[in-house]
Amino acid sequence: MYRVNINELKSNFKKGHFFWGNTKEFASGTLAFIQGLQKEYGDGIVACKIAFKNFYFLLSTKSIVHVLQKNNKNYRRSFAYNGLRDFLGNGLLTNDSNTWVEQRRKIQPAFSKKELQKMSAIMWQGIHKTISEYNPNAAFNCTEQMNKITMRVVSDALFGATDLKGLEALNGALYVLRKHANDKLKNPLKAPLWVPNKANKRFNKAKSEIKEVLSNILSATDANNQDNLLYWLRNPAEGQPMPVAQLLDELTTLFIAGQETTAQSLCFTLYLLGRHPDALKKVKTELDGLAEFNEQGVHQLAYLSCVIKESMRLYPPAWAMSREVIEEDTIDGVTIPKGSVVFLSIYAMHRNPDTWEEPEAFKPERFAGSKKDPEGYLPFGLGPRMCVGNHFAVLEMKMILAQFLKKFEFELKNPEPIELITPMTMSPKEDIWLQLNYRSITSEVPQ
Ligand code: HEM
Repeated sequence: MYRVNINELKSNFKKGHFFWGNTKEFASGTLAFIQGLQKEYGDGIVACKIAFKNFYFLLSTKSIVHVLQKNNKNYRRSFAYNGLRDFLGNGLLTNDSNTWVEQRRKIQPAFSKKELQKMSAIMWQGIHKTISEYNPNAAFNCTEQMNKITMRVVSDALFGATDLKGLEALNGALYVLRKHANDKLKNPLKAPLWVPNKANKRFNKAKSEIKEVLSNILSATDANNQDNLLYWLRNPAEGQPMPVAQLLDELTTLFIAGQETTAQSLCFTLYLLGRHPDALKKVKTELDGLAEFNEQGVHQLAYLSCVIKESMRLYPPAWAMSREVIEEDTIDGVTIPKGSVVFLSIYAMHRNPDTWEEPEAFKPERFAGSKKDPEGYLPFGLGPRMCVGNHFAVLEMKMILAQFLKKFEFELKNPEPIELITPMTMSPKEDIWLQLNYRSITSEVPQ
């Protein structure tokens, strides 16, 4: 029989069903469950029994900093990353071996400000081309379109703006792979991959499709073109070039990690702007006041930056992280046994009433004027495993929102509060639909 070691946590042990523990409450209303813990236990550490595992919910910034930064070497990816690992292999996100540091050193320079600067004209033009195809007469499925546009941007940045056949096919395959990761997360009893059932066959097909498309792209792209990420992955400034299998894992990882998160964040931002006309008006005034409306000009959009930050505070697409404790550790005086799972909820941190004034309100101004983000604001994680694409993502979002809002007025088809779901990436339960109209001030975005 499973036993929870609650050691000195007796007062912070969330009682649950004798057999299932808190599994049911956690699975049926994850965000409400975590916020409930926060209400009940403040910034403590709470032990729960979920899916037959010893879970420790860390509710303070201090304990999260301990795990992600101060003592990060004592923590590895938890079981929650297993579904992703099935197709990302040893790519940066799921790599927990001693090759991770080497890979990070090879990949990080490709995302430096200097490299982003070089890629930004290609990104801007790709966005322009996509947005110029939007049709204001038809209802606009924001969720679908933001997924398409982020796919395009990440492809342009990785491979250059070559017209690469087969990339559209990736959308369907990526969907299957993400579904596999989510299903495995929710259902620990899911059949192992060697069982030839329908879902596994579909998964294996999607995985081969992705690898094939990416291999074809690798052979088709100009290996000497330095204006894309792929060049730096192929020719790292440090260390030996990667074997092709590793390169394919890294490319798949960048697609997966870099696309859906950004698309969801864009949808949440447009949803929030749709519900806050004053903020939208300020964004438009800022856009119309730009001396240069191009990829350089977006760096001047201070208010839009605050809007994006506030949107990622309220709706962090990477809403939680979890780690497994390698050796017994003590956090805030609490002993965490070896092999336990620590659960870090970014969503709860971002709505903690002790840190944020009016935490549920949309107030972009709270980020104005300060260069450093407040403690407890972690949309891109923290420590050595912090998101490698964070500057890329913010730049991309600014470019897309700037061009979209310069060209279109929009209304939410359904302005009611959204319901959230929490697979790997936090998302609205239903797709977000918009009604678009050309802005009267300008019908065309200059290139
Ligand atoms: C709004 C968009 C994004 C959000 C919210 C986001 C969030 C995160 C977070 C929280 C982590 C840390 C995960 C953990 O420690 O468990 C992470 C890691 C990572 N992200 Fe992002 N990300 C975004 C966009 C991107 C983009 C655009 C790329 C690349 C094109 C990217 C590539 C990665 C990679 C490769 C990792 C793993 C880093 C490592 O472990 O060394 N992400 N991301």
